[in-house]
Amino acid sequence: MMLTYIVLLKESLFWSRRDCTWPNSTDTANHWWQNPSSIFTIYSLTTTNEQGQQEYPIHLGAPLVAVLNATNTGPVISQLQEDIALAEWDPSNCKWNTLPTFGLLNNLNGCTNGIACPIPQGNQVLKVTIDFSKFQAIIGLLKNDAPYQLQITLTNKATNDKIVVTAQARAEIH
Ligand SMILES: *[C@@H]1O[C@H](CO)[C@@H](O)[C@H](O)[C@H]1NC(C)=O
Ligand SMILES: *[C@@H]1O[C@H](CO)[C@@H](O)[C@H](O)[C@H]1NC(C)=O
Repeated sequence: MMLTYIVLLKESLFWSRRDCTWPNSTDTANHWWQNPSSIFTIYSLTTTNEQGQQEYPIHLGAPLVAVLNATNTGPVISQLQEDIALAEWDPSNCKWNTLPTFGLLNNLNGCTNGIACPIPQGNQVLKVTIDFSKFQAIIGLLKNDAPYQLQITLTNKATNDKIVVTAQARAEIH
């Protein structure tokens, strides 16, 4: 009885520690999802560096390109607001903590910040370049080789429709 209890306790400690180190298995691969949308569906999301090479962990200190296979079933998008929320993983509390971004990543014009506009209708490969290297105030807060979460909200300014995608990845900073 006592032994079973100890074994179970050891297992649960093992699993909780394991779960809390790299959420959603971000130690080996990125993890992403999209909020439900009736006008825009993302089928796949991979990341590359500026040279188009896939690398993992990703590097947040250099431009990062998210490559999406997506279908726009809504209207052509020609005015796009981009908001990015950044969170770091807290392994001791097993939760994400939002990082301050000093307003640098809010209310951006997506069309001049890494997205080629207009976004046509139909199935396409869409590239979204995210470049934190110009925001040293943010880079300076980040730990090297840790899990990070980026939530990107793209708002079609003409219709107010939102596309929300969340990506989690292991990142190096340099
Ligand atoms: C893991 O991913 C799922 C979506 O696939 C998400 O709902 C969940 O909150 C994520 N867990 C953590 C700890 O981020
Ligand atoms: C997106 O992925 C689907 C399924 O793999 C594929 O059939 C389609 O050709 C891809 N779209 C583009 C634009 O590459």
